Amino acid sequence: MLSSETIRIVQSTIPLLESAGTELTRYFYQRMLSHNPELKDVFNLNHQRSGGQPAALFEAVLGYARNIDNLSVLSAVVERIAQKHTSFLITPDQYQIVGYHLIETIRELAGEAATDEVLQAWTEAYQLLATIFIEREKVLYAEQEQAGGGWRGSRPFKVVCKSRESDLITSFYLEPVDGKPVMDFRPGQYLGIKLRPATSAYAEIRQYSLSDAPNGCSYRISVKRETGEVDGIMSNWLHDAVSEGDVIEVMPPAGDFFLSAEEETPVVLISAGVGLTPMLSMLNTQLQNGHHGSLFWLHACENGQVHAFADDIRAKEKQHERLKSRVWYNHPSTVDRPAEDYDFSGLMSLDKVRELIDVHGAHFYCCGPTPFVKMVNETLTDWGIEEDSIHYEIFGPHSSL
Ligand SMILES: Cc1cc2nc3c(=O)[nH]c(=O)nc-3n(C[C@H](O)[C@H](O)[C@H](O)COP(=O)(O)OP(=O)(O)OC[C@H]3O[C@@H](n4cnc5c(N)ncnc54)[C@H](O)[C@@H]3O)c2cc1C
Ligand code: HEM
Repeated sequence: MLSSETIRIVQSTIPLLESAGTELTRYFYQRMLSHNPELKDVFNLNHQRSGGQPAALFEAVLGYARNIDNLSVLSAVVERIAQKHTSFLITPDQYQIVGYHLIETIRELAGEAATDEVLQAWTEAYQLLATIFIEREKVLYAEQEQAGGGWRGSRPFKVVCKSRESDLITSFYLEPVDGKPVMDFRPGQYLGIKLRPATSAYAEIRQYSLSDAPNGCSYRISVKRETGEVDGIMSNWLHDAVSEGDVIEVMPPAGDFFLSAEEETPVVLISAGVGLTPMLSMLNTQLQNGHHGSLFWLHACENGQVHAFADDIRAKEKQHERLKSRVWYNHPSTVDRPAEDYDFSGLMSLDKVRELIDVHGAHFYCCGPTPFVKMVNETLTDWGIEEDSIHYEIFGPHSSL
């Protein structure tokens, strides 16, 4: 518990935080990663370069200060971060390092405003937040270890099959080297994958959503090759250098984005590009178990060449009457067949399928780039869908919609 005086002092620093903006967390990460370079094996340095992670941390710190007198409103955010932390195997001792650099950052950036009482109040406030995370992560690690087929830390898995799904996406089928069962996961959750690509000076950890229903003995992930000015480290390494028979380190399934629907609840799965991976897991699980409600598969991608799992979804739609699929191609190519390969051209517009969807009581799951998820959220909110029925995942540091 924090004293009312500590709470008051932390609240009094909110304008200071707001004016510092993400410069605060950029400086913090630079400071921490230069003093503790071993953490470069933990953090994705490209999320530092792009500013995504400093922005996510800044939002969290500011959110904490703004709600320090009513922490219960932060529980969903705490859960998301704690789940993600477990996929990086974050340990309690690392909280001391982060705390030290956070306080020193405030001391160095705030100048005269960083009085002893401000530094003391923030030290206490940080300790409280760190304790909340450490306690939650302890529970999650224990649950992962105690689940049937579960484990703690990283576990070696063999790539037993590598299968091309489109020009950009390849699936990896993973079986544990020890040959024992693997824990079930909730459809929508992800694995942490740790590799030491020769193209990087550091160990790299990335998350990949499980792209099929749980089966107790193996996992499937489906990875998009990320190209750009500089190509993505892990995705290209997986595509180019990791072959069938190779062994990779895998952290237990985690994540707060997962399907939870009653038997009759209509479920609407909305994705763009590689954002279809958690949706596939949800879809396959729903088709396998006793779910009787209607299912809608709404997917957007560039064109037929990058349209992964197209035949799979088409076959399932034929097989299951309650599944309806609609696909948008942003720029169909000349070989793409309207009505057969895709339903609409251009960017996804949910209004085109408003009549088709059984919105009453439906739950909506969405995954894709942030602007896409934002568009979906805005449309659904305009339709009057309750916030509690809209669930989304973003494949990178989270920012508020
Ligand atoms: C919960 C979650 C689930 C996920 N699920 C999936 C999934 O199912 N499938 C999937 O494919 N991905 C998924 N991701 C994304 C995945 O974790 C990786 O972020 C992704 O594969 C890119 O990693 P990378 O190492 O290839 O790219 P990084 O090396 O991390 O680079 C990130 C991006 O920055 C660009 N870049 C790098 N350096 C520069 C530079 N100097 N200048 C300009 N641009 C640069 C790269 O081209 C790349 O696009 C998920 C992420 C999360 C958080
Ligand atoms: C109270 C302290 C902490 C807070 C408030 C915090 C906050 C956050 C937030 C907001 C994210 C982004 C989550 C998301 O996008 O879903 C994140 C991710 C992460 N955190 Fe923490 N964190 C804390 C402590 C730590 C510690 C002690 C470590 C270990 C050194 C750590 C390592 C990471 C890593 C590796 C990521 C992923 C980064 C990436 O993808 O680039 N965090 N954290």
